[in-house]
Amino acid sequence: MPQSLKIIYQVAPDAEALAAHAAQYFVEQAERSVAARGRARIALSGGSTPKAALALLADPSQPWRARMPWPKLDLWWVDERSVPPGDPDSNYRMTREVLLDHVPLQPEQIHRIDFGIGGELEPEAAAARYESELRNAFCLEGAELPQFDVVALGMGPDGHTASLFPHTQALHELTRLAVANHVQAKDSWRVTLTWPVINHASQVFFLIGGADKAQILKEVWMGPRDPERLPSQLIRPAGGILTLLLDRAAAALLPEPDAEGCGTLERD
Ligand code: 6PG
Repeated sequence: MPQSLKIIYQVAPDAEALAAHAAQYFVEQAERSVAARGRARIALSGGSTPKAALALLADPSQPWRARMPWPKLDLWWVDERSVPPGDPDSNYRMTREVLLDHVPLQPEQIHRIDFGIGGELEPEAAAARYESELRNAFCLEGAELPQFDVVALGMGPDGHTASLFPHTQALHELTRLAVANHVQAKDSWRVTLTWPVINHASQVFFLIGGADKAQILKEVWMGPRDPERLPSQLIRPAGGILTLLLDRAAAALLPEPDAEGCGTLERD
């Protein structure tokens, strides 16, 4: 019988407050990881939602930049599109523009999913390269999984997370660390961490905002289990706790949170 899942959701009033909430959460988790293990190995997602929070982390006029233990961070990506690093679609480029170009990180602290300087690498070769870098950096042997300290996820309106899209091959990958995944709906190739790697992390959280996510959010975390159609349901961290950082619009169909904006759900 799989372990039950406790979902803790924290609701911010609006998108701006959600970004500040996420920046605070990032710093707190990084500080906690560094205190416990001397490093904070964080895997970031792409998309649009994280941009505002990452920009706050980089903003010298905000409190988070000075608090973040930058020299102790190792940044990885949850997934990447099969494009060059400077392409407007690149998750790495988004992160570089809003964060990496503005904070004190050394190149060896940044581990992007590399499709080659011109995006010329075959997706499976890019996945194998990333997997090899994970094995080396985490000193893995045999079937061991890397244990990220924090994995930051988003969720699409179709219930995908990372590049784990509905009805795609990567949903069934149980042993690889990262795989190439063809996304028919986008007619494109991606490389993504596999869901067993994501679930092995110490902390996993979703950052989700906007009214367009309210219905799918309710289906994923309150509806029947159907991970082939709703891949975000595959995310069940080994520690039994999943955190959702939401704005009020995205949380509209969840049970009303308490006075502090916190709510919990249980899933078997
Ligand atoms: C990507 C992301 C993806 C993202 C969701 C939500 O490569 O696009 O990793 O999983 O988190 O699509 O994206 P938004 O934040 O833009 O809604």
